[in-house]
Amino acid sequence: MQQWGAERIDELTALVVASVPDDDLTADELLTACYDQPGVVLGDDDGTAVVALGVGRDADGVLVASLRLLAVHPDRRGSGLGSELLEEAERWASDRGAERLELGGVLPFALWPGVDPSSALVGVAARRGYVDRGELGSFAVPAGFRSDPPAGVAIRRAVRDDDVTAVTLAAASSWARRSDEIARALDHGTCHAAFATTPTDPDGVHGEVVGLGCHSVTRATWVGPLVVAPGARRRGVGHALLGQICRDLMIADFPAAEVHGVADPDIEAFLGAAGARPGRRYRVLARPLPA
Ligand SMILES: CC(C)(COP(=O)(O)OP(=O)(O)OC[C@H]1O[C@@H](n2cnc3c(N)ncnc32)[C@H](O)[C@@H]1OP(=O)(O)O)[C@@H](O)C(=O)NCCC(=O)NCCS
Repeated sequence: MQQWGAERIDELTALVVASVPDDDLTADELLTACYDQPGVVLGDDDGTAVVALGVGRDADGVLVASLRLLAVHPDRRGSGLGSELLEEAERWASDRGAERLELGGVLPFALWPGVDPSSALVGVAARRGYVDRGELGSFAVPAGFRSDPPAGVAIRRAVRDDDVTAVTLAAASSWARRSDEIARALDHGTCHAAFATTPTDPDGVHGEVVGLGCHSVTRATWVGPLVVAPGARRRGVGHALLGQICRDLMIADFPAAEVHGVADPDIEAFLGAAGARPGRRYRVLARPLPA
């Protein structure tokens, strides 16, 4: 195995397209997920198998590794390469102090939230002692969904310098774990922000940021981060932000906004109230790593 640098992105993209054709992954999405964050891409010499992963802190502050991608060319399947790559990934993660390796989206900029139950990776992981930690759902919100913001809240795309600064500060203080993704959305122009308004500041130019709705940060059409400050919830801010995301996607000719990695029934209720349809399910598979 050798490290594949970003200069091999075309080779990596061709391998991923051959291995997971239904996912329509682009070179841009692979660059964002595999190279823009600290981590590693390891592949074999002849370009037929690759694994990508990174390390970071999970929601509880534990140092974990997240598998971003494991692809074996269809012509080379069944020769043990998947297991070999996973073993390499575990060694790399363990050397960096990660307590567990999770297959999928525990860290930002994931390409998948978990493992597709029909994927061959499920069997490979089971043989290597991975534990099933639960299920995640995906939902598709029709791109036609819209909702007005409640009184006292103004929503606009964060592009003006002062709005970008306000969003960046709010992200750092309230949503620090998501701040890298929010920064990326600000760069891409795909971050909508909800500002508190007052009678003397009806546009919320100086208003507190009470919510953010970002999309297409790693993968086109994927929703998130979508967050509303706890004190501003259940007033329609979340739906209004989701409506703006849907509007962007409709203009770009996508049929739906996709929400992945949902495990919380409250979030399912929020999405269901926006007309979301359930889609693919994923398993959360993880293995503790030796110290
Ligand atoms: C999910 C979240 C963005 C919703 O924001 P919000 O502003 O409270 O949502 P809205 O007020 O627009 O909710 C609209 C409808 O969704 C449903 N809903 C929202 N939150 C719900 C909850 N906790 N439980 C059940 N239903 C809920 C309700 O039908 C609600 O309408 P109602 O208040 O008139 O009953 C917010 O709870 C949040 O920031 N959660 C943490 C971050 C997160 O998990 N984001 C993932 C988003 S996909």
